[in-house]
Amino acid sequence: MALPEAEHIWYDGKLVKWHEATTHVLTHSLHYGNAVFEGVRAYMTPKGLAILCLEAHTKRLFESAKACGIKIPFTAEQINQAHIDLLKSNTYTDNVYIRPLVFLGYGKMGVSHIGCPVNVAIAAWQWGAYMGEEALQNGIKVKIASWMKPAPFSMMSKAKASANYFNSQMANFEAHEAGCDEALLLDPQGFIAEGSGECFFIVKDGVIITPPNDTSLESITQKNVIQIAKDLGYTVLRQRITRDEAYNADEAFFTGTAAEVTPISSIDSRVIGSGKRGSVSHELQGAYFDIVMGKNPKYEHLLTYIN
Ligand SMILES: Cc1ncc(COP(=O)(O)O)c(C=O)c1O
Repeated sequence: MALPEAEHIWYDGKLVKWHEATTHVLTHSLHYGNAVFEGVRAYMTPKGLAILCLEAHTKRLFESAKACGIKIPFTAEQINQAHIDLLKSNTYTDNVYIRPLVFLGYGKMGVSHIGCPVNVAIAAWQWGAYMGEEALQNGIKVKIASWMKPAPFSMMSKAKASANYFNSQMANFEAHEAGCDEALLLDPQGFIAEGSGECFFIVKDGVIITPPNDTSLESITQKNVIQIAKDLGYTVLRQRITRDEAYNADEAFFTGTAAEVTPISSIDSRVIGSGKRGSVSHELQGAYFDIVMGKNPKYEHLLTYIN
């Protein structure tokens, strides 16, 4: 699917034309994989575009960079303002996905990244549901990947590091090749870690369970959904989930900035619950969309309005 282009991209402190935000083929990150990024959404609320959890995303971007040994040549305040300037400079009529990227640029080759120039780009385009509207309503088919999440002594899963997404990409590819929509990855102990780009939740006997972030991204949406669920009166447990527990869940769903709240209809061909979006998933999904669309004053603090 073609990317819905916007007019500008924020690139190293300037707004440049979409097609002028380019880089050299000897860009260090392209060869050795060290880059960090964020996935942010802005929603078209009744009061105009509003960025969801901007400060939390920028904080994680800086923490990812620090973990990966990259010094971002801007302050967090400058990066926050850059998001706002970018959205103001473009024309959008619907919800937007924002992709800040920090990468090691041109000027040095070899594995060592010491002394590499650091570039920062932020692009934002109109984007709908990550896996389509149908997925939000009817759920998706999930396959447990043969690839596992790397142990914490191999990779840093809490960093939103581009390098981590090779593992995600291969798992996602395997799931698609097997006729499924998304992959679920196990940790080195065999417990469920997360999806290729989402956190995992189950509902069992009315209790909501989601794994700790030992081998998964410290997710902003997971934290929000846990808060929403608690506010709705649910008990939420952060505990490890085994494969058979997942198969026998009453409901299962993915969460993420891109995936929002996406119900899961089957895992490894085991139908979850009724095989349709469950009532708890539905309720959480509704509450989540109300919040991001600016319809719940209690959560207004999560939104940064552009106008
Ligand atoms: C691997 C992975 N896990 C979890 C998530 C969900 O994180 P968040 O809710 O902060 O978007 C994402 C998406 O960014 C992801 O890529």
